[in-house]
Amino acid sequence: MNKKTKINRLLFLTLLVMLAGTIALGYSGFNLIPPKIDFIQTSYGDEKNSAKKILVAYASHSGSTGGIADAIAKVLFKAGAAVDVRLAKKVSDLSPYQAVIVGSAIHSGEWLPEAVEFVKVHREALSRMPTAYFLASLTTVEDNEQTRSIAAAFLDPVYEQIPEVKPVDVGIFTGKLDFSKLQFMYRILWPFRGNGVSEGDYRNWEAIRDWAAGLYPKLLGL
Ligand SMILES: Cc1cc2nc3c(=O)[nH]c(=O)nc-3n(C[C@H](O)[C@H](O)[C@H](O)COP(=O)(O)O)c2cc1C
Repeated sequence: MNKKTKINRLLFLTLLVMLAGTIALGYSGFNLIPPKIDFIQTSYGDEKNSAKKILVAYASHSGSTGGIADAIAKVLFKAGAAVDVRLAKKVSDLSPYQAVIVGSAIHSGEWLPEAVEFVKVHREALSRMPTAYFLASLTTVEDNEQTRSIAAAFLDPVYEQIPEVKPVDVGIFTGKLDFSKLQFMYRILWPFRGNGVSEGDYRNWEAIRDWAAGLYPKLLGL
């Protein structure tokens, strides 16, 4: 075997090992390959002609905020409204709705950009109809007055940028951390940026449902 063939063979083997390594890492929980996430989008009640139709629009990175949006929607439906749960970025028309709830996961101390964008784009309509906000973060894993006030402040940029939309209520919820649903970079950085919060589902369904039940009359004036 001459020198050139040897080098080519070595290069080929190196590339093969790198490819196999990348695939192995991708499927072994490191999530080099972006995880597949199901973002809930569903409807409850009469789709077409309900006099009381509410939209729950949300933004999410790993999908768990969709579970919160869905739990809120179920309570509002049981209370008598038709409810759509949609990703905020998929909604273009608010005319079918009498009230809107906008929620988002928190990344780096703020709502995800799609939620902020949603409120900006629909600012005129939202300023004229009952609107509520909610957020899901891990700041309130230890739930007390101090952590709740830190979490509540995550919405300050939204109030500052879009002051004409005045939410009738704001839900502060604890979310979920699922490494299998995080992209590789977020996962490897978590030990440095996660403030010691470990993987877990911290969503408090009772608190979420209580908030939604109290919200219904505020949204529909009943
Ligand atoms: C990259 C990243 C950044 C985050 N930044 C914050 C943060 O600044 N403050 C906080 O309380 N939680 C933070 N979280 C936690 C998320 O808000 C929480 O896990 C949320 O429930 C995720 O919702 P999702 O599954 O809908 O994306 C962060 C999570 C990730 C993955």
